[in-house]
Amino acid sequence: MSELPDWVPSGVDVSVPNAARIHDYALGGHHNFAIDREFWRRAETLTPEARPIAYARRGFLGRAVRWLAGRGVRQFLDIGSGLPTLGNVHEVAGDADPAARVVYVDNDPVAVVQSRALLESEPRARAVEGDLRRPEDILYHPEVLELLDFSEPVAVLMLDVLHFLADLERPGEIVRRLGEACVSGSYLVVSHPAPDQGRAFAPPLPGEAVTVARDAAEIAALLDGLALVPPGVVPATDWHPEPLTGETSLPAILVAVARKS
Ligand SMILES: C[S@@+](CC[C@H](N)C(=O)[O-])C[C@H]1O[C@@H](n2cnc3c(N)ncnc32)[C@H](O)[C@@H]1O
Repeated sequence: MSELPDWVPSGVDVSVPNAARIHDYALGGHHNFAIDREFWRRAETLTPEARPIAYARRGFLGRAVRWLAGRGVRQFLDIGSGLPTLGNVHEVAGDADPAARVVYVDNDPVAVVQSRALLESEPRARAVEGDLRRPEDILYHPEVLELLDFSEPVAVLMLDVLHFLADLERPGEIVRRLGEACVSGSYLVVSHPAPDQGRAFAPPLPGEAVTVARDAAEIAALLDGLALVPPGVVPATDWHPEPLTGETSLPAILVAVARKS
């Protein structure tokens, strides 16, 4: 095999496609390998709208983080983050205020080890391994507590990750526990595949279990007890769209931002 770029930590098997790197490629990033690109191309032939969906989600991430930064939020906990490349939270939040702090959490050790390498020179961002199914492990993770102060508002991002949790795993309860850990003025941010649109990717990405699509009412129920920021649960493209981007509405991904009062 040819020599690997220096951002690849030792021990990462680049002959196996990886979901986080596939997403990076879908978004036009460069932290991926031939095996990831090949996987994405196959997925795209089966689901041609897969790339617009990936862009719609990333566009929402940028608008939501800018919106939150505009309301004074300076701390971000991004759970199910994938790889922090192109237009990710620390870049957007850092543009608004270089003092903003971001912790990325993923349960995929490959994504975490690569994320750590990418964030090496970022004192205000780091990546830790954690599973959304065990929110306390994330909330009390020493590296999370080192960077984030839960006595100040925090934005907890769960972008395209809650669909990995079956209803039996009680995602609403998990979201409630995360909300309870945050002070008034904090926000929870969600993006979620909608039903009847197919999965954004077919077949499932490597390592993906069966996923659960949810409609707007089900997503609102996950955020029960918090105040939905207008316009509520809407397609990603319709949440505070920026003028002149010309994005057409894509109902495949629903999003919401909710505030703890
Ligand atoms: C579809 S990608 C989304 C990446 C990013 N949030 C975005 O919107 O572009 C889902 C990510 O969630 C991670 N993930 C899946 N289940 C998880 C869990 N239970 N806890 C933490 N991360 C999880 C996957 O490893 C993957 O990196």
